Amino acid sequence: MTISKKIRVAILISGRGSNMASLIAAATAADYPAEIVLVASNRPDAGGLAAAAAAGIPTRALDHKAYPSRAAFDGALHAELVAANIDLVCLAGFMRIFSAGFVEAWAGRMINIHPSLLPLFKGVHTHEQALAAGVRLHGCTVHYVVPELDAGPIVAQAAVPVLPGDDADALAARILVEEHRLYPAALALIASGHARLDGDRVVFSDTVRRADGALLSLRE
Ligand code: GRF
Repeated sequence: MTISKKIRVAILISGRGSNMASLIAAATAADYPAEIVLVASNRPDAGGLAAAAAAGIPTRALDHKAYPSRAAFDGALHAELVAANIDLVCLAGFMRIFSAGFVEAWAGRMINIHPSLLPLFKGVHTHEQALAAGVRLHGCTVHYVVPELDAGPIVAQAAVPVLPGDDADALAARILVEEHRLYPAALALIASGHARLDGDRVVFSDTVRRADGALLSLRE
């Protein structure tokens, strides 16, 4: 199947950027339906920035502490994304809450990966939350971003067992392996048009409409 046009993706990070690296690696495939055209961070010391630059991706560091308000930072970030003609924003360990205006501006065009099986265990310390709850399955979720934290429509999930003796670090490591598989797969579903938002749900189809209007079937 031919994808007529790759969608332009920005990845936002705050730290080491291992999920970012998995997206960049996936997007090197000729038939991957998205290209990573920008990596931006609110922390100039984020380890992932150097990795992105080494992969030849343009990077921007916008130190949130240098802006007088959340709205001012979000405005500067928005301007960078618009200047780069970004179609879709992927949050990958971006540890900063957005203003409602920013989320509104990117509604339906921003996704996140969260280390739990949502709607369980929103927020931070998800592995500690899972251990405290005594669940036998835990995992990760790719979802659209809405104003309410970790509450948007779910695109894809992967589960792992919680094993006897697990601590938060062991669980985090087991889930991170799945995150690195899930996020590129979920982005490909969206970028190819096989997954799309329908109200507050994500729906899937095995046909996509090409830019020239032709309908292509996954079964072709
Ligand atoms: C991941 O566990 C992700 O699910 C969460 O933050 C972590 C980021 O890790 N949102 P990395 O920077 O991608 O290595």
